[in-house]
Amino acid sequence: MYAKRLAIDLGTTNTRIAVPGRGIVVDEPSVVAVSADTNKILAVGKDAEEMLGKTPDSIVAVNPIKDGAIASYKVTEGMLRYFFDHIAGIFSFVRPEVIIAVPAGITSTERRAVVDAAVSAGAKQAYIIKSPVAAALGAGIPIGTPSGHMIIDIGGGTTEVAVISLGDIVVSESARIGGEEIDQAIINYVRKKYKLIIGLKTAQKIKHKIGSVVTQSKEKTLEVSGSNSVNNLPETLYVSNNDVAQAVGNVMSDIISSVKLVLQKTPPELAADVIDKGMVMTGGGSLLRGSDQFLAKITGIPCQVADDAPNCVVKGAEIALERLDDFKEKVLWLK
Ligand SMILES: Nc1ncnc2c1ncn2[C@@H]1O[C@H](COP(=O)(O)OP(=O)(O)OP(=O)(O)O)[C@@H](O)[C@H]1O
Ligand SMILES: [Mg+2]
Repeated sequence: MYAKRLAIDLGTTNTRIAVPGRGIVVDEPSVVAVSADTNKILAVGKDAEEMLGKTPDSIVAVNPIKDGAIASYKVTEGMLRYFFDHIAGIFSFVRPEVIIAVPAGITSTERRAVVDAAVSAGAKQAYIIKSPVAAALGAGIPIGTPSGHMIIDIGGGTTEVAVISLGDIVVSESARIGGEEIDQAIINYVRKKYKLIIGLKTAQKIKHKIGSVVTQSKEKTLEVSGSNSVNNLPETLYVSNNDVAQAVGNVMSDIISSVKLVLQKTPPELAADVIDKGMVMTGGGSLLRGSDQFLAKITGIPCQVADDAPNCVVKGAEIALERLDDFKEKVLWLK
């Protein structure tokens, strides 16, 4: 029994929390509804998302995490407190020890802010794990071995590419691109090609239902509605999987650039391991069809998407918690 401990993936798009032995207990959008007048937090997660769009202008949506770091300290603290209280209600414990996964590329000041927010939200102690390490652990990669393992985590706001050996990061790159840029690329493309203005939710629906990184011989289409950009009237038309492949080209090129940068900086022996074992993708963004194929084709290195890719980071943080004593010295930071 590992009581009073929580593993947290504080993502740009989603916050996930796991309790060792019990699995994932929170999986909610990182969104908070705040009163514009009083700054009071009105709702968190799915409730906040549902509230928005159906409420007056006096309620605003805040995404407290931006590109993997805290954009609004108070709101992050409030969101964490809300989740801690929710979990305390189920498991009847207070002041947990927590491990929080953060991008490898954030500064020590940004890291400290995460620890401070968790402690003021009610954690007794907060450790930080670099998210590529957590992602690799959660993907089942034996990170402790003296061999190079390459992980590519594509989230909502960040893409992290890292080579890990002996439990730590040897080379890494964080790019501030991810699923959100893909949504925006789809919006821009549909507007340009079809003169149709679509909303974010519609773009995400296209991405999830028919989206693909590579052009496919079998065309799939989806009926979408929006407003005509010329006359502003409502309009419905069909968008295809191959439209998405065209739309996401630039975002994928940026991701490839990060992968290439990491490969160029990887010491030869470890690079040989990567070529041998291939690259592993995690994060929600890796679910876009064909992204593994695309990366493999461009780099010439085999690539596969991990099982349960969106949850690898939180699962890896959970594994680190279970082995806290092994990890404390080497892998985790206190501040
Ligand atoms: N089936 C899918 N196809 C394509 N994209 C998907 C799919 N499912 C989820 N996504 C995208 O994955 C992204 C969220 O991924 P994830 O939850 O890993 O991000 P995060 O951890 O919150 O963000 P970050 O790691 O950047 O801080 C969103 O942009 C979402 O639209
Ligand atoms: Mg993430």
